[in-house]
Amino acid sequence: MSEVLISVRDLRKEFDLGKVKVHALKDIDLDVYRGEYLSVMGPSGSGKSTLFNMIGALDKPSGGKLEVAGVELSRLSPRKLAHFRGNYIGYVFQAYNLLPAYDAVTNVCMPLLFSGKTPMQATTRAKEVLTIVGLEHRLTHRPDELSGGQQQRVAIARALANDPAIILADEPTANLDLNTGAEIIALLSKLSREMGVTVITATHDHKMLDVSDRILWIADGRVKRLVRREDINIQVGSVS
Ligand SMILES: Nc1ncnc2c1ncn2[C@@H]1O[C@H](COP(=O)(O)OP(=O)(O)O)[C@@H](O)[C@H]1O
Ligand SMILES: [Mg+2]
Repeated sequence: MSEVLISVRDLRKEFDLGKVKVHALKDIDLDVYRGEYLSVMGPSGSGKSTLFNMIGALDKPSGGKLEVAGVELSRLSPRKLAHFRGNYIGYVFQAYNLLPAYDAVTNVCMPLLFSGKTPMQATTRAKEVLTIVGLEHRLTHRPDELSGGQQQRVAIARALANDPAIILADEPTANLDLNTGAEIIALLSKLSREMGVTVITATHDHKMLDVSDRILWIADGRVKRLVRREDINIQVGSVS
């Protein structure tokens, strides 16, 4: 596991709010390896979501360099960026962000239809990924007919649909109870181990750290610490 998939150099992000400028990311340097599971820890407001939005090309850096699979994102045209997002990245959010009016299969079909699959191809693939996340018995349920954990599984299936190299999961267990959160983490970890997906999660959650290959701490927009899992001692509620 040594191929660098994501290379971040001197990455900066500022939000200009007229009178004040918020420096959300300050000279971030980071390499993420293909297939690894990286947890990003940091207090609220430390820049975790901003970093995810940069890596996932949902927003543009103010400065520095960001390469994914050897491609510098700032050089891509809007059309190529959209293609990059659709094919390289799967997003998982704290609030699931499913379409409430549609059943699980249809929610998972959306990114497949956007990337040009026929409805039949999309449906076949949607059922396949919903089976991978353990929801083969909930294909036609709408979000309001599913538990929080099941909704997050649908979101993970949707993220997996286009066979992405990277899954970005921003506090995916924040709305879930302890056990359900642990199941979601186990699922993400399985995807990384068995399918070679690079998983990056933002979390406050110490139980997410145990499955990580590495853990990155950020505070106030800067990298504070980056360690391999085996080099630290994780206990419930604390890390040393
Ligand atoms: N769209 C935005 N406009 C202005 N400030 C923002 C915006 N998004 C984030 N910020 C600010 O950037 C900093 C980092 O935020 P964020 O990345 O959301 O932190 P985290 O995800 O770690 O809680 C915070 O100070 C936040 O208020
Ligand atoms: Mg956040």
